[in-house]
Parts: sequence; C-alpha cells; structure tokens
Amino acid sequence: MLFRRLILHRPLLQRVSRSRSTGGRLVQEGPGLSDFLQKSAVPKLDVDLDSVQSRLSGMKYFIETYGCQMNVSDSEIVRSILHENGHVLASSAENADIVMLNTCAIRENAEGKIWGRLSYFQHLRRERKSMLGNRKIRKALEQQGVSTRSKPFVGVLGCMAERLKDRLLDEESVDFVVGPDAYRDIPRLVDTVSSTGQKEANTRLSLEETYADIAPVREAESCSAFVSIMRGCNNMCSYCIVPFTRGRERSRQTNSIVREIKQLIEQGVKEVCLLGQNVNGFHDSSRESAELYPSTTYQAAKGFSNIYKGKSRDAPGARFADLLETVASLDPELRVRFTSPHPKDFSDDVLSAIAKYPNICKSLHLPAQSGSSSVLERMRRGYSREAYLDLFNRAKEIIPGVTISTDMITGFCGETEQEHEDSLSLMEQCAFDQGFLFAYSLREKTHADRSELMSDDVPEEIKQRRLQEVIEVFRRQLQLRNSTTETFQCRLVLVEGHATRSTPESPMLTGRTDGNKRVIFPAHNAVLPCGSVGTESVKELERFLESEARAIKEDIGRTEGEVQPGDLMHALTKKLEKKIYTLTSRNNYKNVVVQKHSEEEETQMNFRPGQYAAVFIAEAEGPTLRGTAYAMSSMVQWRSRDDAL
Ligand code: SAH
Ligand code: SF4
Ligand code: F3S
Repeated sequence: MLFRRLILHRPLLQRVSRSRSTGGRLVQEGPGLSDFLQKSAVPKLDVDLDSVQSRLSGMKYFIETYGCQMNVSDSEIVRSILHENGHVLASSAENADIVMLNTCAIRENAEGKIWGRLSYFQHLRRERKSMLGNRKIRKALEQQGVSTRSKPFVGVLGCMAERLKDRLLDEESVDFVVGPDAYRDIPRLVDTVSSTGQKEANTRLSLEETYADIAPVREAESCSAFVSIMRGCNNMCSYCIVPFTRGRERSRQTNSIVREIKQLIEQGVKEVCLLGQNVNGFHDSSRESAELYPSTTYQAAKGFSNIYKGKSRDAPGARFADLLETVASLDPELRVRFTSPHPKDFSDDVLSAIAKYPNICKSLHLPAQSGSSSVLERMRRGYSREAYLDLFNRAKEIIPGVTISTDMITGFCGETEQEHEDSLSLMEQCAFDQGFLFAYSLREKTHADRSELMSDDVPEEIKQRRLQEVIEVFRRQLQLRNSTTETFQCRLVLVEGHATRSTPESPMLTGRTDGNKRVIFPAHNAVLPCGSVGTESVKELERFLESEARAIKEDIGRTEGEVQPGDLMHALTKKLEKKIYTLTSRNNYKNVVVQKHSEEEETQMNFRPGQYAAVFIAEAEGPTLRGTAYAMSSMVQWRSRDDAL
C-alpha cells in the first residue's frame, strides 16, 4: 500500500509521454493531451524508482500514450492493473523491461507514428543485444540499475492493436497485442511473454467492460482529472474506425462515477472531464438508476436522428443530463467538462442542465464534420446543415456566453468544390472557438470503404488544399472572435502551472477559462486576496485595468508602431502593481498575495496550480489569451460578481 502511494504521488510520472499528439492535426492549442497533463503541485520525492524496483520482484514498465483523451484515461487504468500485480514504473522507455504503446487508429498518420516507434524499439533491442556481449558494459549497466535484458518486451495496446492484431504480431519488435477491452489480461500476457518468449494477444471486445472497479493511477497530482463514464460507440459514421476498435456503447453506473469524483475532490482536484467516445450518449440502465429515473424514451436533439435503433435505447435509467446534474451538485467549486460528444445527443435537457449549473463549463464541442447536407448524409451523421445550425443557435441562446468548438473533415468521398464551399461557409458563419480539422483518411472496414457507392476519390493535394482553406477561415474568425469577445474582459482562470514559455527572468503561469481558452499571465505581481472579488475596490481595479489597457494600447501603437505580443500584458501588469499597493494601503488589505511555490525552488508566485485567478484579458493572439491576474477568487465568489453585473 505504501508503495502504491509512492507511485501515485511521484512527480516523475509527469514525464510519461507528455508530448504525444492527439493523433490528429491539432490546429490550435485546444484541449490537447498536454492540456490535461499538468505539472504536479507536490514537491519532488527523493526516491529513485529504478532502485526501488530492484528490491521488488515486478518488472519495470513504461507506457507511451497516443491518440485521444480516452487513451490517456485507459493508460491510467493499465497502470493501476500493473501496480496491483507488482510491476513498477520505469523512468524511461529505454530503462524499462516492458514498453507499452497505447495507440490510435483514427487516421493513417496516427498509425504511422507507431510504426516509427516500433522500428525504434527494434533498433534499441539489437543495439542492446550487441552491447550486452561486452562484459564490462553489462556490469556497468547492472551497477546503475539499468535493465540488462536483451529486450524491452514491447506491447501494442489500444485502437491500432484492435484493428491490426495479426499484422502487428508479425512485427519482429512486437511481443504482445491487447485491445481496449482486454487490459485486465495484461499481467497474464506479460507473464507468458517473459517466461516463454512466445508472442501473445487478446483483442476480444466486450459488451460490459467499463473498468468501473479500477482506481486509475493518474500521471501526477494535478488539479484536473479525466473520469471515464462510457465506452464504445454505436454511431457508425461511415468514415470512422472507432466503433470497430472500441465496440458497442456501454455506460458505467452513476454511483461508481460519483464515488470516483468524490475521491478526486478529497484529493484536491478542481476540474473533472467526463470522457466517452460518445459521451452524451451516456445511459445508466442499471436497476438502481432505473428506479430513480423511470422515464423511458430516448430523445435525440430536434432535427437529428440516431442510426442505432436497439431496444435498450428506450430503457429507463439516468441519461447524460441526469449525470451532469448529479456531478455538478457534488461541489460548487468543481469545474465539470466533458468530451467527446455527438451533436444528436444534445437534447434541450442537456443544454438546460449546462445553463443551470454555474460549475458546468459553458463550453461545448459540437463536431460538425462538414457544412454540406449531402456530405453529411454520405457520412451517415444523421443531420443536415440546417439541423446543425439550429442546434448551434439553440445552444447559444440557452447557454449565454457559451464557447463552441468543432471537428471538420475535408475531402471526404465524392466531396465536390461546392460541398467544400458549404463547409467554408459553415466555418465563416459559426466562428468556432476551437477547431480540430482533418483531411479525410480512408479506414479499412468502414462503411465508406465497403460501399460500392463511395470511393476515396478526392486527390490528396485537393484534400490538403481544402484543409488549408478551412484552417484559414477558422483562424481568421477565431482571431476576430477572441479580439471582440475576450479582450478587455475579466475571466476566472483555473491555474494549471507554469506556461511552456515561462523563463526565470519572466515567469509566466497558464490556465484555462470556463470557455476552455488558454490564458497566460505574469506570475510575480501581487494580487488581491480571496474574498475581495465583487468589493468596491476590486470593481475600481477592474475599471482601472480597462481604461489603462485602452490607453496603453493606443500609446504603444502611436509611439512604437506595431504592438508586439506580450507588450500590453507586461505594461498593464506594471500599472496594476502600483494600483494594487495604493488600494491596499487605502483599504487596509492586510496582504497582497504572492506565495512561495515550493521549498526547493523558493519561487514567489501569485498562484499555485489549482487556484482560481481573476485575470484581466489584455490580448488575444491566435487561440491564446494574454492577461494580468489581479485577485484570487473562488467559483462561488466569481458567480456573485457575475450576478452583480
Ligand atoms: N466521437 C467523436 C469523434 C472521435 S474521432 C465525435 O463523433 O465527434 C475525432 C475526430 O476525428 C472526428 O470527429 C473526426 O473529425 C475525425 N476523424 C474520424 N475519422 C476520420 C477519418 N477517417 N479521417 C479523417 N478524420 C477522421
Ligand atoms: Fe466515430 Fe461517429 Fe462514433 Fe464519433 S460518433 S466515434 S465520429 S462513429
Ligand atoms: Fe484514436 Fe481510438 Fe481515440 S482511434 S481517437 S485512440 S478512440
């Protein structure tokens, strides 16, 4: 148990595959993988995991995670299963006995990365084998606690494993292959591989597996956490491999979800992101839930149809809107997000629940995929352009201030220039807050692959040209939207840690707004303490910031020509500091706040990860907002400020 705690708290875990991409073309800094893998708030433990391991019988493992958030969450489950079986985390792939690649199959390029990694491991094994022929090297490695096995055993997990089982087993460097519903079997597979040297595989899909009883071992102590609530997808969009790699939809029981979230709250987590391949298709039809929610019929959003017509669809039990309400009621200081939804399951009930609870983030992912009704029909999405726009407008109406992101595919089978123009005009019209934009990649076995009526007939260069055009409209609209709706506004930011470009000379923090916009701001200026938000002094400060920001912007523009990114933010922060000290003496605020970050670093920061910062947004550059933090806050306090406006 003690050992388990050690693993849970060790910041070294941060290193695990932090930079893996989403397996797609992430056009802007959206909620990519790195957004959810934050720096630890806890000080480093002085324990070398590799030497701890040498005293234990288990093997050292390392997981690299690719693909979507669901894979990040699955890797946390795999970690838990491995720890329960005595295996321990290695500090790097090179230093592990077992390396697992948790893979994505969504597009060809996602799989390309994995083939590249497999060649690398093949090379590593060969090199190691030849090195170990030298006794001196072998001894030196043993003394350093570095694995001297001639391998790391390599396992391929996840969606690509499910899709390409046999082809992967043919690879020299692959020892075992495990599909997304077979992770409980990994210890057995590893045992067999290591004791017999035989290759092993388990890619059975399940109708029930949700891993509900497994406590995920998260990467590091962080202020936000993924909570998986359902798995699989019944939608069968014609281009998509996910229903084949993840199997049928099944939902976890509400009480096990609630139990996990309560524990996370106790551990200090401030934001949960509910996860599922079709997250808003959540349906807990267990007996307990059916008693609480006896109403039966399934309701798709107006104008949308559900291709899946199974009887279980209309069974009683909690739906996504019910779960949202339950989770949001657990703690008013907990932010609730979710991904990845399908538009058809945004019933008015779901939209109203989001509007009703201040702690459910006002940020929706509404994947359009195309702006053309005929393409949408070929994609089997179950809606037209008009129905999509209707839903878009209804969401904006029911949830004031909501931000909306989307996914788009260019060059799907038979896409004409006119159909592409329709996608461009949808992007123009909607001015999305985030965009995940892709060129179509044919996947074997999908309806688009099998249908005689469709072929992957848009040439690659045209797909790419169209993609660039979609990106261009998206970026232009985003810049306009951020400049008009975000700059010179005050936003509540959940602080995640240092920004990637933070330097000792100019330390910067980063976090996200309720609308899921990334914000960066200086870390060193003093701020007003918690409790001050909504007071006359803070209102005065907010008015001051706005008028100064306007004046400085004009001034910089006049005297120095082009305003450089960051200029306004830094100039405003200087003014803010002076103003805060004047206010402080006038109103007898005892402490303006700067905190010591950690004993080791002795760094003074205005916020720690997991705290809520009131930030005045000074600038918008692409997807990123820059601002200056002026007060600490809580969600409840911020709400009373909003109510007073
Ligand atoms: N369940 C989610 C999507 C998961 S896949 C949903 O329905 O929105 C994430 C995104 O990858 C999809 O929204 C789609 O835009 C893109 N995608 C899926 N299959 C693709 C393919 N074959 N080629 C290109 N992009 C694809
Ligand atoms: Fe794929 Fe469609 Fe399911 Fe999303 S809803 S995972 S795009 S089949
Ligand atoms: Fe990729 Fe599988 Fe997620 S195909 S996007 S890892 S569900």
